[in-house]
Amino acid sequence: MEVIIQPDYSEMSRLAARMVVEVLNTKPNAVLGMATGSTPLGLYQELVRLYKAGEVDFSRVTTFNLDEYVGLPTNHPQSYHYFMRENFFNHVNIQPQNINIPSGTTDNYPAFCEWYEQRIEECGGIDLQILGIGSDGHIAFNEPTSSLSSRTRLKTLAKQTIDDNARFFERREDVPVYAITMGVGTILDARKIILLAGGTSKASAIASMVEGPVTSMVTASALQLHSDTKVIVDEDAASELQMREYYEFIYRAKPAAPTG
Ligand code: PGA
Repeated sequence: MEVIIQPDYSEMSRLAARMVVEVLNTKPNAVLGMATGSTPLGLYQELVRLYKAGEVDFSRVTTFNLDEYVGLPTNHPQSYHYFMRENFFNHVNIQPQNINIPSGTTDNYPAFCEWYEQRIEECGGIDLQILGIGSDGHIAFNEPTSSLSSRTRLKTLAKQTIDDNARFFERREDVPVYAITMGVGTILDARKIILLAGGTSKASAIASMVEGPVTSMVTASALQLHSDTKVIVDEDAASELQMREYYEFIYRAKPAAPTG
């Protein structure tokens, strides 16, 4: 994986947005994998800005979100359906029929999960997957000890994730215990991956993911097996990396840095 260290959150978000735009300008009907959480907010804001400036068009884009809480209706302010509408979909020209988000309210989860996987395949697979990382090293809701070849399925959230996400809910007890999530195997099938992380709370997860062993205890470490993953971090999230100078040397040495 390629590690790109940016001075701060806004530079990180701008660089990620430029990379998304580059993919869409090369393939206007690309399939994008979308992430939620605080981390990609800056990226979405920048993409909306670029869309309004006429620099990117989402009319032929298809999206698949990574995950959704089980039990939250789509109009619940903490549901990922709501998050995506408020922070991104309502502000760009994406076609509603091209938006796919796992259902948190289906009455048949195994059937839904199978359908979601099939739908990704029917759409030609994910061209570019955006990811955040949990402080426990998870990608999507693939908590520690998830199979590294897992597919979309129901997952029980780890205590660390419930603690981390409690800030978005009135009470800790309100955080859902289950989620429906793409698997690690589903994510590894994406052609390109960009993982974003900012802040010291992510420093240890980033170091384990990039420089530690491939282990289901840090599901993001499975990205070491992926051939086109870019990890864009701010200074704080990079603070525990041991090979930092090497990553900076590689990045600076490139003639056209953002394109890789
Ligand atoms: P965050 O979540 O962006 O809100 O930190 C990331 C994640 O849990 O994947």
